[in-house]
Amino acid sequence: MNNIHTLLARRNPGHALEQAFYTDPEVFQTDLDAIHYREWLFAIPSCELEKAGSYVTYNVGAYRVIIVRGADNQIRAFHNTCRHRGSVICKAAKGHAPKLVCPYHQWTYELDGSLLWARDMGPDFDPKQHGLKTVHCQELAGLVYICLADEAPDFAPFAETVHPYLEAHDLGNAKVAFESSIVENGNWKLVWENNRECYHCGGNHPALCRTYPDDPSVTGIGEGGEAPDHLQAHFDRCEAAGLPSNFHLSEEGQYRVARMPLKEGAESYTMDGKTAVRPWLGRVPFADAGALLQFHYPTTWNHFLADHSIVFRVTPISPTETEVTTKWLVHKDAVEGRDYDLKRLTEVWMATNDEDRRVVEDNQQGINSPAYVPGPYSPTQESGVLQFVEWYCAKLASHMTPNTLAAE
Ligand code: FES
Ligand SMILES: [Fe+2]
Repeated sequence: MNNIHTLLARRNPGHALEQAFYTDPEVFQTDLDAIHYREWLFAIPSCELEKAGSYVTYNVGAYRVIIVRGADNQIRAFHNTCRHRGSVICKAAKGHAPKLVCPYHQWTYELDGSLLWARDMGPDFDPKQHGLKTVHCQELAGLVYICLADEAPDFAPFAETVHPYLEAHDLGNAKVAFESSIVENGNWKLVWENNRECYHCGGNHPALCRTYPDDPSVTGIGEGGEAPDHLQAHFDRCEAAGLPSNFHLSEEGQYRVARMPLKEGAESYTMDGKTAVRPWLGRVPFADAGALLQFHYPTTWNHFLADHSIVFRVTPISPTETEVTTKWLVHKDAVEGRDYDLKRLTEVWMATNDEDRRVVEDNQQGINSPAYVPGPYSPTQESGVLQFVEWYCAKLASHMTPNTLAAE
């Protein structure tokens, strides 16, 4: 009944999506198949894998992935399923191991995924045929992206566009000062829709609003991608100082970068608006350069500041549950208690995340009601939400085969 084609075809442009998009298990599975199992997904900052043998695990839908730094320092990703009888190999969220050893019968894999040792498998057994299955993995200026598809979309256009912006933030010399993972009881698209507007900021984010402007041209997408004068003046000032800053939205709308100003006089996301860490992470020459905002659908938005960086990861868990992971990155030489105070560094976004969780959960609860009717987006305040929804619907539509469309 809630056929995806029908849902897409009867969509009311400029309006929120109807209930099934946020509740229906079939739509959720289609989201995974059409988007999360096909697109590049931000997984971790590469500084999290400190040395050879450092690994993290990441689950996306039904997939389990190991991301590990090899003896040659390269970061690789593998399916976390043993080539013997399929057991999960790494069970911890993160750890360190000289080899990857399956807990079931101790098949032992090198950090590059090749099978090193398997007991009593007979003379005809070929270890070369039983290495771990690889997952596409790319490192971009200190950020690790993976792709679960057999054939990954071309990563190069995104990397080439975004790398110059990220370079100044020197994420290769970062460490994770703190991380938080919360589960929001809302559909992953509600998490994104909420992120893509600041219409809700004034009423919900007292701490963030001390420094983050709720100017819709900062969060949203300007008409034709053009920046108003006050933004362009900020971009020009930063560009003149050698910081790529201009607004750039990709052709398909999957990612955007722009170095946005914070409120007048604000430098970082702290309660007093001043920077939170010394030494700074990166080579931004002045404190009021604002935040380099980068989003890449469907898994990440980020804020790269003069003194530290914050990376966010959005992982769908069920039609009405989404994990949001936040990591605060500081210079690797910064010492907690001496160079930064952890509470001061994290309190604004800890509060903001919790406030966002609450509004997303309230949104989901109301949508669950049979009385829910999708209402109109504000053209000035919610252009970013509309842009996300258009991207999402286009992805879903292109996932449907021409044959099934014709049969509709
Ligand atoms: S399932 Fe991994 S060693 Fe048997
Ligand atoms: Fe928010």
